[in-house]
Parts: sequence; C-alpha cells; structure tokens
Amino acid sequence: MFKISRNEKCWCGSGKKYKTCHERSDEEKLGKYVSDGYIIPDKSLILNPEQIEGIRKSAKLSIKIMDEIDKFVKEGVTTEEINTLVHKMTTDAGAIPATLNYEGFPKSVCTSINNVICHGIPDSTVLKDGDIMNVDITTILNGYYSDMSRMYMIGNVSKEAKRLVEVTKECMFAGINAVKPYTPVGEIGNVINDIADREGYSVVRALSGHGVGLKFHNDPIVEHFRTSQKTMIMVPGMVFTIEPMINQGTFDCEVLNDDWTVVTKDGKLSAQWEHTVLVTETGVEIITE
Ligand code: MF3
Ligand code: CO
Ligand code: CO
Repeated sequence: MFKISRNEKCWCGSGKKYKTCHERSDEEKLGKYVSDGYIIPDKSLILNPEQIEGIRKSAKLSIKIMDEIDKFVKEGVTTEEINTLVHKMTTDAGAIPATLNYEGFPKSVCTSINNVICHGIPDSTVLKDGDIMNVDITTILNGYYSDMSRMYMIGNVSKEAKRLVEVTKECMFAGINAVKPYTPVGEIGNVINDIADREGYSVVRALSGHGVGLKFHNDPIVEHFRTSQKTMIMVPGMVFTIEPMINQGTFDCEVLNDDWTVVTKDGKLSAQWEHTVLVTETGVEIITE
C-alpha cells in the first residue's frame, strides 16, 4: 500500500517485514481510498517513534519560548525585542530558529500585527494599545522541527478584534479535532470553513498548514478552507501543522515590497493560531501543547 515491497521492513518501525506487519490492515483501511482517487501518503511521511520523540523535544523548547513571550509582550515592546528574546532562548538551548535565513527571511520569529496575515518581519514597530498580534516560532532542535503560533491582545482591544482572535482559536481546535486516522486531510478545512462562515469571516486560501518535523515545509498540504478535492489520507505517524488564518473581511491577500509580509487586501484584521499535531491510531495528539 505504501509502495513498500512485501519483504521490506514495515513503515511503522516494528522491524518486522511489511507482509507480516501492516500490509493487510493498510489494504483494509486504505484500499477504498485508493480506488476512489485519494492520495496515499508516501511512507517517508510516517515517522517512527524515535523521530516523534525528537519532535516532542523540539516542541517542548518552542512551548517554553512561547510561554516567555506570553510574559514579555505588552504595550511599548517592539517586535525587534520579541525577536531578540526568541533568538537568545533558542540558541542558548543549542537550537536553531528555523525562520532565520529561511529563503531569505531575515529574523528568528514572525510577528504579524492587525491587518498582517502572516510572515511579518520584526522591526522597530512598537506595540500599542488595541493591537492584535500573531507570534509564530519554529524551532530546530537536533534536526527536528516544531512550529507553533499564538495571538496576543495588547491592552484594551475592541470587542470585534477579540471575537476574531477567539473564533480563530476555535477554528484551529475544530480543525485539530477533525484529525482522525484513515480519513482525508481535507476534512480539517471543511470544519474550519463552517465556523468561519457561521461567524461572517473568511478563510485565507493562499497559505496552508504543512507537514513538519524532519523538514520545515513538507506534505501534506493542509488547506483551511472547504474543498471537494480528493486530498491526502491521514495515517498514524504523520506530523503536520494546523494554522488557520481567518479574516474579518475578504480572504484576498497582498505581499508587501519586503517580499514577505502578507497583508489583507481590504486592510481589515486577520488572526492566526498554530499547533503541530501527530496523527495517532485513535485520533490526534497536539505536540506543541
Ligand atoms: N512559521 C511559518 C509557518 O507556520 C512559516 C514562516 S516562514 C518565514 O509555516 F520565512 F516567513 F519565516
Ligand atoms: Co507552519
Ligand atoms: Co508557523
């Protein structure tokens, strides 16, 4: 089923031959999807327990850094100061901030304020009362990647902004709860889009979640909007992000002249939350929590 020969070692890491391990159950669980035209993940996307443990350690560090950001962020702080904190904590722990020099990105964290959807570059911008901001950190520890982001509300934010931030978090958790082995990854976007519709918001389409762990951006592509496409089937051992970007207005985006900062075309607010998750035999585990 996973393009493994029957005599090769099973993808699950048991050390047994595929034919005496998962071959039959794979055929039972995935066979109908193959004939239906869904995408079956390459076996390289099924991570073994040692790799998952490596990602967990990386995530522990990401969480620790994020919790420090929670305490640090307030009115008057600059996004450059957030960058300095992330950079120092990451490198002090012997890890690497994945965004630094990634395809030319110049900083160790993304800070995206108000109408910025994602990939905001830390600079001398001062956080002010009423701002909402996403802070997105990706840590590489011993070669293993973990990716997470949270929203911050500075001082007194409008009730409209607060509702956007809260609904976006609800979208992320609904997407996470849609993760079930042997079901299509497209189900995640379906449930997220339902909530956005109900609340009168739109779902950003130009950027998606992604496989993560051994690389920064890998398969599967995790769309956050509704689709009738035959997407990839989720299988235990897959690790990917769920990171919906939800807009107050339309989903249209623009990229600024710095070639990174993605903003809403209509200038309205956008919010995002992100977790790295693991597909398990019974459902899902949030690695970055
Ligand atoms: N952390 C972002 C994500 O969730 C990616 C940032 S790439 C950068 O996928 F280059 F903008 F930093
Ligand atoms: Co991500
Ligand atoms: Co991220």
